[in-house]
Amino acid sequence: MKRDFIAVSDFSAQELNQIFDISIRLKKEWKSGGNRPLLKGKTLAMIFQKPSLRTRISFDMAMRHLGGDALYLSPNEIGLGKRESIADIARVLSGYVDALMARVFDHAHVIELAKWASIPVINGLSDYNHPCQAMADALTIIEEFGTLKDINVSYVGDGNNVAVSLMHICAKLGANFSIATPAGYDLPPLAVDLAKKIAEGTGSALKFFRDPHEAVKNAQVIYTDTWTSMGQEEESAKREKVFPPYQVNQQLVSEARKDVIVLHCLPAHRGQEITDEVADGIHSRLFPQAHNRMHAQKGILAYLFGKE
Ligand code: CP
Ligand code: NVA
Repeated sequence: MKRDFIAVSDFSAQELNQIFDISIRLKKEWKSGGNRPLLKGKTLAMIFQKPSLRTRISFDMAMRHLGGDALYLSPNEIGLGKRESIADIARVLSGYVDALMARVFDHAHVIELAKWASIPVINGLSDYNHPCQAMADALTIIEEFGTLKDINVSYVGDGNNVAVSLMHICAKLGANFSIATPAGYDLPPLAVDLAKKIAEGTGSALKFFRDPHEAVKNAQVIYTDTWTSMGQEEESAKREKVFPPYQVNQQLVSEARKDVIVLHCLPAHRGQEITDEVADGIHSRLFPQAHNRMHAQKGILAYLFGKE
């Protein structure tokens, strides 16, 4: 049976920890001279409906380091659901490559790809969530604090795709998750309901605020993301009026715990959701986090291919 990677909530804590173990092992191996060709002969097609730096390059390099290969398919080439139906694309590609990665607008489209593909499908970001990012975020937190269990993670800003996956991985692994969002920019209610259900089993505390100062009290991790996600560009002027009180700046960071680390999935809009001072300051883990995208993805790929 093939396995897809569409949402972190589809995986048990044990499975997620297994993926982290592989990631940590492969990271160490790569840093000490290179990876064994675990995925020799395997190919990954990467469908992009939106731009990308990290997701594209880190998946490509992850495949190459493990002895496989990756193919980039740009928005104009594929025309997902426009030039050809998603079901047909999924079935055609299933005969050419060994796995698919897709970055889409509509979350239903990555689910549709997974339904029709006979090979593993990985969600490389949708308007709803960003599970590969959450794996790198969790890996970064584990490297810093040794665990996610009982760690206080505070997200400040838009209740977007990145926030959804972060909340779900926190709930799964027993981290406490606080979020401050402006009215009108809350997390999707169904995503919150799912997180609450997961948290009942893990003891993770979930808290929802309007006030960012409340949300970061006792934080060990402060996380933020862009105020305007890809596809929302026409709303950016309106959002730039609403979000300034949610900027992660030196003052806000000083209200958290002394050992707080600051994360951001990037790309950052310096001077908006995060200041230069914080992004480049001693609490920042922005670049180790970005680099962990590649290590997290090696774990995901090896796990899905059953090549640990
Ligand atoms: N964080 C992230 O997904 O970056 P890209 O959009 O550059 O892939
Ligand atoms: N929320 C952002 C994340 C980019 C990696 C977006 O969807 O544009």
